[in-house]
Amino acid sequence: MGSTDKPLVHVFLVSFPGQGHVNPLLRLGKRLASKGLLVTLSTTEGFGKQMAKVNNITDEPARFGDGFIRFEFFKDGLDEDDSRRGSLDQYMAQLELVGREEVSRMIKRYEEQNRPVSCLINNPFIPWASDVAESLNIPSAMLWVQSCASFAAYYHYNNGSVPFPTETDPEIDVQLPAMPLLKHDEIPSFLHPSTPYGVLGKAILGQFKNLNKPFCVLMDTFQELEHELVEYMSKFCPVRTVGPLFMDPSPKVITNTVRCDMMKADDVCIEWLDSKPPSSVVYISFGSIVHLKQEQVDELAHALLNTGLSFLWVMKPPLPGLGLQLHTSPEGFLEKVGDKGKIVNWSPQEKVLTHPSVSCFLSHCGWNSTTEALSSGMPIIAFPQWGDQVTDAVYLVDVFKTGVRMCRGEAEGRIIPREEVEKCLREATGGPKAVEMKENALKWKEAAEAAVADGGSSDRNIQDFIDEVKRRST
Ligand code: UDX
Repeated sequence: MGSTDKPLVHVFLVSFPGQGHVNPLLRLGKRLASKGLLVTLSTTEGFGKQMAKVNNITDEPARFGDGFIRFEFFKDGLDEDDSRRGSLDQYMAQLELVGREEVSRMIKRYEEQNRPVSCLINNPFIPWASDVAESLNIPSAMLWVQSCASFAAYYHYNNGSVPFPTETDPEIDVQLPAMPLLKHDEIPSFLHPSTPYGVLGKAILGQFKNLNKPFCVLMDTFQELEHELVEYMSKFCPVRTVGPLFMDPSPKVITNTVRCDMMKADDVCIEWLDSKPPSSVVYISFGSIVHLKQEQVDELAHALLNTGLSFLWVMKPPLPGLGLQLHTSPEGFLEKVGDKGKIVNWSPQEKVLTHPSVSCFLSHCGWNSTTEALSSGMPIIAFPQWGDQVTDAVYLVDVFKTGVRMCRGEAEGRIIPREEVEKCLREATGGPKAVEMKENALKWKEAAEAAVADGGSSDRNIQDFIDEVKRRST
C-alpha cells in the first residue's frame, strides 16, 4: 500500500444509509478485497460514525487476503437534529443534492492520491451515484440488494410492458414473465398506488431509468434459487448473481471482524441458545427498520404464551426522529415466560440462524433475512410489512416452499390476531408441514453453499466481474 507501489485495482462502494443496504455491500466488498482489490466503502457520515463506533472500525485499511477494505464517509448536509430527517421526501432530496458533490469530490481526491477508482458500485435508493461515475468517466455497477423477482417487477413497471395496479384499477393481478401470478398486494408495495412510501419507489425506479449506466447488475441472489427468472432477465440486462453474499466461502480470509452493525449485538444470545435443546427456539426479528404497532407486539406475545414455545425475540429501539415508542411486553409476560424466552435489542443474526437450537424464524422477510435464512436451512414464518417483503413472502411460501404465511400482502396497518399467529407457530414447529419446510430449507442451504464455493455460479460471476473491471481499467 506504499505510495510507490503499483496501486491495487480500486473499487468504490457507495451505499444508502440503511442496515439492509450496507450489509450486502460490505459483504460484497469483503469478497472483492479477498480477491486482491482495494475496496473503499462509503455511506453517510451519521450512519458511518455509528457503525465505526459499534464495530471498532478505524481509519486503517483492513487486510482481506491479497486486498484491503477501508471506510470513508460523506456528509448528507443535515445536522443530526434537523427535522428534515423525519421526512423521507426531504431527506432523499437533500441526500442527493449533497451526496452528488461529496462522492464526486472523493473520487477526484483518490485520483490525486494515486488510487484512482476503477469502478463505482452503488445500491438502490441512490441512483444518482451512477450519474456521478458517468460524469467522471468511471465504469459503474449496481448491487441489487433484493431478489431477482423484485428486480423484475420494478423493471417491467418501469418499461410499462405489463399492466400494474393503478388509482382507477387498484386490484388487478400482475402476471410477469417467468414469475408466479402476483395478486395486487403481492407486488413490491412501493409500486402500488396506495403506498405511503412512494418516494422510495421513485428512488428505486430512478435506478431503472439509469439502467443503461451500470455495465453490470450484481445481485445478492444465486442462480439456482431464481434460475428461470435470472435467465429471462439476463436477456434484457447484464445480470450477474453473486449471492448469497452472507455466506462465507473462505472463513479464514473473510473473517467477521469487519462488520457494519448499527447496534451492538447482545452477547447473551448465543450463550442462551446453547442452553436450549436442539430445534426448540423460535427466532423473532423484523430487520432494522420495521416497527410494529404495540398492539401487534401484544398479539405476538400472547400467541407465544399460548403455544408455550421458547423464543429469542429482537425488540430493537425504534429509529430516532420518527416519534416512535419503545416496545414493551404485556404485563406479567416476562414472569410467565421465565427462562423460556429472551428479549434482546439486537442479535448476531447470522450466528443465531445457524444455531442448532433454533427451529424457525418469524420474519418480516427483508431480502437479507430471507437469504440468510435460506442459506442457513431455516424455515420462516412470513410476516411481511411492506416493499419487497411482500413479494419475498410469496416466494418463500409458494416457490421455495420453506415458509408459512402469517398474512397475505402488507401487514403494516393491520393487526394479525393471536389465534392466527399461534396457528402459524404450531404449523412451523411441529407436524408434516414443519418437516417438509425444513427439508426444503436444507436443500436451499446446500445449493447456496455450492453457489459460493470455488467454481460455483456466484464465485464464477464475481471473478468474471473482477476480470471485467480490470479490463476496463487498463
Ligand atoms: C431493508 C428493507 O426493509 C428490506 O425489505 C430490503 O429487502 C432490504 O433493505 P431491513 O428491513 O433492515 O432491510 O431487513 P433485512 O433485509 O432483513 O436486513 C436486516 C439485516 O440486519 C440483516 O442482514 C440481519 O442479519 C441484520 N440483523 C437484524 C442483525 O444482525 N441483528 C438483528 O437483531 C436484526
